[in-house]
Amino acid sequence: MTESFRHAVITGASSGIGRAVAMAYAAPLMRLTLIGRDSRRLEEAAAACKAKGAEVETAALDVRDRAAMRDFLVALDRRAPVDLLIANAGISTGLPAGALTEDPDAVRGIVAINLLGALNTVEPLIAPMCARGRGRIALTGSISALRGLPHCPAYCATKAAVHLYAESLRGQLARHGVGVSLIVPGFVHTPLNADLVSPKPLAMDDSKAARIIRRGLDRGKATIAFPRLLYWGARLLTVLPVRLVDFFMVRQHVDVPVTKERELA
Ligand SMILES: NC(=O)c1ccc[n+]([C@@H]2O[C@H](COP(=O)([O-])OP(=O)(O)OC[C@H]3O[C@@H](n4cnc5c(N)ncnc54)[C@H](OP(=O)(O)O)[C@@H]3O)[C@@H](O)[C@H]2O)c1
Repeated sequence: MTESFRHAVITGASSGIGRAVAMAYAAPLMRLTLIGRDSRRLEEAAAACKAKGAEVETAALDVRDRAAMRDFLVALDRRAPVDLLIANAGISTGLPAGALTEDPDAVRGIVAINLLGALNTVEPLIAPMCARGRGRIALTGSISALRGLPHCPAYCATKAAVHLYAESLRGQLARHGVGVSLIVPGFVHTPLNADLVSPKPLAMDDSKAARIIRRGLDRGKATIAFPRLLYWGARLLTVLPVRLVDFFMVRQHVDVPVTKERELA
């Protein structure tokens, strides 16, 4: 069965995957609310979506700001009921080469955005969507959540938490007519990983990723994981002897830039 959406809200829509998903949905009769922090890039994304006929609103919001997210989303939903909510905003951070531990401030920054920011996005709309008995909530996780990677412990941890949160919500909200999808990308060429030094097997561009995501959402899939080969490869790693996997992983030449993002003061 195919679902069709009339009003999609997307966080992280000023760049990369979020912007590409917005473009994939942009069409006449479609309403899009694009959330990000960078107003200039948000407006550029909005203009591109409007050019395809969509009705577009932008909101420069920080997903770490729980009250601002709640106030905006609740008011928006009253004006224009949301039937597709995509909690996609996220950042990356990692362990500098040779370092033993990650920068604790960077770790708290990524938890604040990738995990708490996703909760701040989803929580305000659960009750209204359930009350209407329709709609879909999607959260962007990562293939890196399937097996801990030695070069980016906090990133993996935040995404693993997002995976379990989405899975937990799914059964609960299904009883109220609201679907939940977990988006599990592999490597997608975006600014997020532009400076990442690492093998990037089967990397794809953001418009291809967006087509896969839209198809999965429209079909009401519980898990939208791509590329499939990398996804199943990562799942295989979870059943191989841990010491063997650690041995090879730790010897990969990987350099993940440390984020400058922090918790909100
Ligand atoms: N690219 C990949 O290979 C890959 C793989 C797996 C999963 N993912 C996940 O996919 C999602 C999108 O990433 P991307 O690759 O598209 O990266 P990107 O191009 O860097 O986009 C990240 C988006 O998140 C927004 N964002 C970051 N912090 C925010 C905050 N505090 N408040 C509001 N918005 C914030 C950014 O908005 P502003 O710039 O306007 O602040 C931007 O729109 C992330 O959750 C990422 O973890 C990406």
